[in-house]
Amino acid sequence: MEVRGMPETIPLVDLRAQYQPLREEILNAISDVLDSMELFLGKNVQGFEAEFAEYCGAQYAVGLGSGTEALHLALLACGIGPGDEVITVSHTFIATVEAICLTGATPVLVDIDPDTYTIDVSQIERKVTSNTKAIIPVHLYGQPADMDPILAIAEKYSLVVVEDACQAHGAEYKEKRTGCLGDVGCFSFYFSKNLGAYGEAGICVTNKPEIARHLRMLRDHGSEEKYYHSVMGVNARLDEIQAAILRVKLRRLDEWNEARRSNAHLYSELLRDSPVVTPSEVEYARHVYHLYVIRTSQRNKLQEYLRERGIATGIHYPVPIHLQTAWRRGNHQTEGLPITERYAREILSLPMYPELTPDSIEYVAGAIRDSVSEYAIVPLVAQAIDS
Ligand SMILES: Cc1ncc(COP(=O)(O)O)c(C=O)c1O
Repeated sequence: MEVRGMPETIPLVDLRAQYQPLREEILNAISDVLDSMELFLGKNVQGFEAEFAEYCGAQYAVGLGSGTEALHLALLACGIGPGDEVITVSHTFIATVEAICLTGATPVLVDIDPDTYTIDVSQIERKVTSNTKAIIPVHLYGQPADMDPILAIAEKYSLVVVEDACQAHGAEYKEKRTGCLGDVGCFSFYFSKNLGAYGEAGICVTNKPEIARHLRMLRDHGSEEKYYHSVMGVNARLDEIQAAILRVKLRRLDEWNEARRSNAHLYSELLRDSPVVTPSEVEYARHVYHLYVIRTSQRNKLQEYLRERGIATGIHYPVPIHLQTAWRRGNHQTEGLPITERYAREILSLPMYPELTPDSIEYVAGAIRDSVSEYAIVPLVAQAIDS
């Protein structure tokens, strides 16, 4: 469908647009790895670990096979296991909670803050028991969680803080980069992330040498010396080719995050006084808009309306973790989480990537405004939590 002079579709993300100007550099980087045949924890993994640690303001970084492995091994490296409880949110990608379950610990889920969509810090303390060992704040959509109150609770009860920064590369909390605010920070380089590999990859950053050492062992079958194994680990090593690609892309991350921010600001300006709720920016944080998520009373109708106009959208995420079959199968308990449950019905992710043009943003915002009369979309007041 050709739409008013616009390309046939505006995708949710456009990886080709990012790849084109980098093509030669990326292909050279891959070719160098293959020419050297240094394929196992070699100079690119080490180089990328040093560069990413420096980028985050952390002392150590340990390259891993995925963000899920980063979370799982970070918890193990912090000594979390069966009998322990870990507090986190239900409004996240399943991997946050999977990682807890993989250690044998019990996830304890709390609701989200209605403005930032990150963990509601006022609900954490009443969930702390004698078994609580850790908190995982998730910097969802690129919006940092409010870390100071979380760190204060952690200190009071001697808890570990593992940041799920899988959607927040380069985001800042009070001018410090996410990932190095707690004990260990976990990142995913899934291809669509702000910093994405061309395959699977992840990393942990930390300022604690003992955690870094433990992570290095765990990712390589619990060994520091080949065929001598001190603990039971896994194979979760970062791949040399992915590391070489990530080194090229890391150099553009700040520029890409700036472009995402200015795209988000244009969306928010064009959608001001419209019936949808736009993301909030809080004074303590620098949001990096991995996703630009609006809320609307008629989410499914709006999604269909935009699809008919060639605009792709997403829902991150349609079913909260505590309502997933996997949660019920695990016999996990939780009380109702009203904001999480309500927002799962209202959220809609609009196209967001650095190369998105102002014309496309205007087209998307215009279509959302047009949808109001067509679908009788009623205004949603940001603070009205009434269902
Ligand atoms: C919030 C969050 N946590 C964890 C993960 C897991 O990362 P990966 O897909 O690299 O395993 C992701 C990414 O998909 C994520 O968005």
